[in-house]
Amino acid sequence: MSRTNADFTLQSFIERVASDDPDAVWRITDRVNLDSDVTAIAMELERLGRSPVLWFDSVGDYPFPVVCNLFADRRRYALGLDVPVQRLIADWGALGDKRVAPVMRDRGPIHDVVLTGKDVDLGRLPIMLHFECDAGRYITNGIVIAKDPDSGVRNASFHRMQVKGRDRLGTSLHSRRHLWNYMRRYEERGEDMPVSIIVGGHPTIIFGALWKGPITTDEYEVMGGMMGVPLEIAAGLTVPIEAPIHAEIVIEGRILGKAREPEGPFAEFTGYASKRSTEHVIEVSAIMHRRRALYHDIIPGISDEHTSLLAVPQEARLLRLLHTHYPNVTDVAYPKSGTCRLHAYVAVRQPAPGLARLVAAAAFGDDLSLKLVVVVDDDVDVHNDSDVLWAMATRMQADQDIDVMRNGMGAILDPSNRDGLTAKMVIDATCPAGDFPQRHTLDAAAVARARTLIEGRFGRGGL
Ligand SMILES: Cc1cc2nc3c(=O)[nH]c(=O)nc-3n(C[C@H](O)[C@H](O)[C@H](O)COP(=O)(O)O)c2cc1C
Repeated sequence: MSRTNADFTLQSFIERVASDDPDAVWRITDRVNLDSDVTAIAMELERLGRSPVLWFDSVGDYPFPVVCNLFADRRRYALGLDVPVQRLIADWGALGDKRVAPVMRDRGPIHDVVLTGKDVDLGRLPIMLHFECDAGRYITNGIVIAKDPDSGVRNASFHRMQVKGRDRLGTSLHSRRHLWNYMRRYEERGEDMPVSIIVGGHPTIIFGALWKGPITTDEYEVMGGMMGVPLEIAAGLTVPIEAPIHAEIVIEGRILGKAREPEGPFAEFTGYASKRSTEHVIEVSAIMHRRRALYHDIIPGISDEHTSLLAVPQEARLLRLLHTHYPNVTDVAYPKSGTCRLHAYVAVRQPAPGLARLVAAAAFGDDLSLKLVVVVDDDVDVHNDSDVLWAMATRMQADQDIDVMRNGMGAILDPSNRDGLTAKMVIDATCPAGDFPQRHTLDAAAVARARTLIEGRFGRGGL
């Protein structure tokens, strides 16, 4: 049976997660405070090594259930794309290549409740304070849809948004990617940039917004490609920007061309309060939402959800790129210990002498945020920090196997950067050529028998 857009809602996805594994969704009926409580519960669970989807029925006096932690576990990315988790990274890249044009509809569930003019009030939404350092309440799951002022192509990207008033938000375009590029061209024309902001939707909407590719690609077509059916959209009510009709909440407005106002500090993926901001201002002209809308918050800072959302698309993208040039690259990981943005581990099968340096150089060229690339052999699990550190301990010598390039462009949110510049380090932790000791291994059939025995005793989740 072919799927329709009604199958691609946030609510239907959470039902799917729960039917796949009832323990994966924790529904909290106790009343919690809007500010700080939701974040504290997610972060405490994370400290205990647990990452269920959190569904809060009663947050302050708000009528909206709040959902968070949706993307703290990679199995849910795989469910969102309908692919096996073992194939997530490879299939992400292939699905991101597909294009399915959106279709226009007159209206849809997003128009159940429409607030314009004096009724616009961001205070109606459960927008919360997360960490103590934050300058205020933030929308953390705001996907900005805007149109290229020259080509009309639509871009989708996440941007943090600080509530500044009933109809005013502060935001930052610090990743300096396509929205930043659009904004500069609107400003050169003396214009504001109309935007539609999606808060809550099926994972494919979120993944489409994180897709990185040419500026000429319409990212609604990427979302449709990931869904396998055209995304249903409707014309904006107060701005000339279309929005998906099955989203939970949509906010319309304009990023002002001239205004700049202080925004932040805000808890960023680096684990620090970041004051770095482009200080843009959004004037809100409409809020619309489904009748029983879910408010999806992404716990910011160095939470598992935020950092995994950075890692998964980037791993998929970098693996494909490296594999194109070096077919013996087998795996890529952006470890949490490197904020899922600043460090990458790359596995290569039988690298020729010197290849590790070239692989690392290609990675640096693709991703300006990277400061460290560790290249290992393919027997090393790049998704396991201690395996990579073991390879460094036993296969590399610092005077031979480390190179540093100085003063490369880097991530401005890295608190150690110097005026946007950082050093880039390559560690070649592959086995030196020639006679090298063999790693001890286990008999594969014995491992399979051991797994069966352990699962029989402790269940599929292991110990
Ligand atoms: C939860 C989350 C929050 C983000 N917040 C910001 C932000 O505040 N400012 C920014 O410039 N980029 C932010 N990003 C990164 C961009 O959204 C991301 O780089 C996006 O892929 C850029 O899209 P584009 O290449 O189509 O322009 C965030 C990403 C995530 C996952």
